Amino acid sequence: MTAEPPAPAAAGGTSDIDLDLPGLRAALLHWYALHQRPLPWRAVPGTGPDPYAVWISEVMLQQTQVATVTPYYQRWMARFPTLEALAAASVDEVLHLWQGLGYYGRARRLHEAAGLLIAQGQGIPTDRAGLRALPGVGDYTAGALLSIAFGQAQPAIDGNVRRVLGRIGALAGDLTRGAGASRLRELAQSLLDAVPTELSESLPGATTSPGDLNQALMELGARICRPRQPACASCPVQNDCLAHGSGQEENFPQAVQRTSPRPATGFAYAIQDAAGRRLLGRRRPDGLLGGLWEFPWMESVLDDDGSALLLSHWGPWVHVLEPVEPVVRHVFTHLRLELRLLRGDLANAVPPPMPERWSPYVDWRWVTLDSPEARALPMSRLMDKLRLRLDGR
Ligand code: ADE
Repeated sequence: MTAEPPAPAAAGGTSDIDLDLPGLRAALLHWYALHQRPLPWRAVPGTGPDPYAVWISEVMLQQTQVATVTPYYQRWMARFPTLEALAAASVDEVLHLWQGLGYYGRARRLHEAAGLLIAQGQGIPTDRAGLRALPGVGDYTAGALLSIAFGQAQPAIDGNVRRVLGRIGALAGDLTRGAGASRLRELAQSLLDAVPTELSESLPGATTSPGDLNQALMELGARICRPRQPACASCPVQNDCLAHGSGQEENFPQAVQRTSPRPATGFAYAIQDAAGRRLLGRRRPDGLLGGLWEFPWMESVLDDDGSALLLSHWGPWVHVLEPVEPVVRHVFTHLRLELRLLRGDLANAVPPPMPERWSPYVDWRWVTLDSPEARALPMSRLMDKLRLRLDGR
């Protein structure tokens, strides 16, 4: 028997979708109470959530899985247990603790926001407008904080929630923007607003907090309602899911065309002085890998083997320029980068003037790579790869 496709929700809203909202809400909260993972940022029963801890964890969890985040979160909270501690830290230390999580702008903006709040003598805002005015706080982070830390019925829609609700409501179209995003938000809101009916009888220990409902959706998306081959047989809302009802769960949310990262090639330079120190550049605080230290690299614009670029800056100072094989590949959200690493030595004891025209860099240092000084500098995963290549690995 072929399943009938579900009638997609009309463009105008979700009020026409035939869903048992109180039943859904109760089933989700019940499942969450039984199956939630004891994650270190979750409030222990009997204590309230710590809004600062929720903030840090939610920023770390964006685009990164729980298993990766947990050790970073624990190190961060040991070093910066409060907003005050974070505000008082140097940006270098903050970036260093973030090293390896990627999206370094998030760490810089957290630090900046902490500085602003402490300077204004304020705590973490408890309203959407106040939160959204802070550096780095987007719609998702604001919703997660308001619901999880402050118990407000505010949607927090990340990729997992989008998929879960997109399937439950069989919401058609692109749910990341425009009318699709509005319908999704409306469904999330009506679920948060629906009155739980059977909850207290079915599971006395379960809570009815909007934060728990949002986290139930997030966890369901991560563990059951996966993008491919969702485990519908284990899903607490399988009977309420319109996409599952018609055997169409993998067709929701509908695929949207994304622009893929732009391919680019370039050169990175590992230049050594007579004392065995390597030249590191510090990137501008804004933009890609902002504030991090690395072997200077550039995208190639011309059909060049890398020496023209280097010689134009350091011609008289650098000799021996040899490629280190194989190329280093690294993918950023917008860029699929292939860098050829070139090893060079200073020809002369006098360090060259630093190249001012290398616009991504604002500072330069000669450092011994395995020294405590180098270990204290924040560096990216790309730089880790370049160092491994230089070491022949
Ligand atoms: N993903 C992002 N935030 C989360 C949370 N609080 N619980 C589970 N998964 C998440």
